[in-house]
Amino acid sequence: MKQITKAAELTAAVEEAKKQGLEIGLVPTMGALHEGHLSLIERALKENDFVVVSLFVNPIQFNNKEDLEKYPRTIEADLDLVKSLELRVKDACTDRLIAFTPTVEEMYPQGEPKEVYHFGPVEEVMEGPRRPGHFSGVAVVVRRLFDLAQPKRAYFGEKDYQQIAVIRALLEQIKYPIELVPCPIVRADDGLALSSRNMRLSPEARAIAPTINATLEQAAEMAEYEDVDDVKEWVVDTLASFHEVNPSLCPNGLKFEPEYFEIVDARTLQPIDSWEAAGDLGAVGCIAVWLDGVRLIDIVKF
Ligand code: PAF
Repeated sequence: MKQITKAAELTAAVEEAKKQGLEIGLVPTMGALHEGHLSLIERALKENDFVVVSLFVNPIQFNNKEDLEKYPRTIEADLDLVKSLELRVKDACTDRLIAFTPTVEEMYPQGEPKEVYHFGPVEEVMEGPRRPGHFSGVAVVVRRLFDLAQPKRAYFGEKDYQQIAVIRALLEQIKYPIELVPCPIVRADDGLALSSRNMRLSPEARAIAPTINATLEQAAEMAEYEDVDDVKEWVVDTLASFHEVNPSLCPNGLKFEPEYFEIVDARTLQPIDSWEAAGDLGAVGCIAVWLDGVRLIDIVKF
């Protein structure tokens, strides 16, 4: 693995790889890597000749200053993890894996970018109205990474389900011939979706956090015989009342506070009111829940 901090140096490495006819895979991350990210990098290494992993906490996608400040930064451990993939993946030798770790000034040399992206209905639901400017900020950094890494394929985790729809819309807008590769969520043994934010949970909160996935899995079973609105209501009520039903597991006012749970068409992300209304990709349930001051998201496919 080679670490690169300068955009010009990344461009030079990419140009050299292209000259050799190598296919490039891009895995954009904000660092604080876990097995979920490693699964994306591993897949990218298997499917491409040359892989760029970016580790950059993108300030312009945070609509909440405190969230940006609290976002975990673990660069040395991250680089060790990326290096460890060289042992795990056959042929992932030094010269075909790049960790791109720019500063904010390197990514945005002209200061805060002025460009603003709009994606219509896919961004007007769920995360969109709750995090104004978030998806535009994601689009700005992802486009910059596309320009620098010139990938054939780009890898994104399905936990951020709406982000994938937004990147798909971005690719349609900018007409880059990049294959978007959505990758399944990686979960801890107890079912909790791996997330960089999990490390901010107290031990008590971490112990009950798998309830989110367990509730979603039960919702998928209920979908066999209950209608959409009943499933939605049941999920929100089950999580919101968890501390009342299980007081011994919830010391010091610990509780789940669901921000939203929507059941949407998996392609358009528009809410559906009956299972039959879902299109070719089916329906997906997307949730955001506060627990112990940490905002967790997860999905379930119906
Ligand atoms: O999903 C993330 O970690 C970020 O939104 C991304 C895609 C790396 C852009 O900063």
